[in-house]
Amino acid sequence: MERLDKVLSNLGYGTRKELKGICRKGLVKVNGVVIKDSGAKVEPESDEIFFGEEQIFYRKFIYLMMNKPNGVISATRDNRDETVIDLLEMNHQIFDPFPVGRLDKDTVGLLFLTNDGELNHRLIAPKWHVDKVYSAKINKEVTESDIVAFKNGITLDDEYLCKEAKLEILSASEEESDILVTIQEGKFHQVKRMFQAVGKEVTYLKRIEFGTIKLDETLVEGEYRELTDEELAILKNF
Ligand code: URA
Repeated sequence: MERLDKVLSNLGYGTRKELKGICRKGLVKVNGVVIKDSGAKVEPESDEIFFGEEQIFYRKFIYLMMNKPNGVISATRDNRDETVIDLLEMNHQIFDPFPVGRLDKDTVGLLFLTNDGELNHRLIAPKWHVDKVYSAKINKEVTESDIVAFKNGITLDDEYLCKEAKLEILSASEEESDILVTIQEGKFHQVKRMFQAVGKEVTYLKRIEFGTIKLDETLVEGEYRELTDEELAILKNF
């Protein structure tokens, strides 16, 4: 059971003080009965709550998939730059979501946002080796020997030995290569640093898969949607 004013304020229907007045005026009904005490206890997930004419659908957690655009920070707040949270509509921002892990400012593609701290913790914990697939452009020719090096484990500039990574070459020339790379970890700037280790530079980076969940390509950069029940079940079972 939760306090009625807490449930309503969490959903953005006003401050506790405002809700006290609103309830006193008889504007809130629970299971067909006017509730004048804003501190009354309700079962938010099963009680039928009306705010005026509008029925309230309460839920504790939200789970979103965004196609992150270039130039936006994967954080909840930033003094200078726009964040992924700034791109959300108010009715999603009120849940206080945060990004699951981070993509660099110039990386685009699949990013989850949630306010479910436990799920977030599990997904980014180093002991869970969730495969992440990136599509990238590289400034030089990517070769078979790079594939072998990635498979054997790249050593980063801080001596960290990466787990086996799968590198696929889609096209390669001396000036530019298109590749897909699957990594299991999420070290800071990992893909960029892995290519640096073989003397090459990432010029474009997009995450296209997380576990078996693929970026919904109908989302243009900057757009997002809620996860489907199926996608959520997959995330929760990692
Ligand atoms: N690897 C990177 O270098 N950057 C990202 O944003 C994600 C993976």
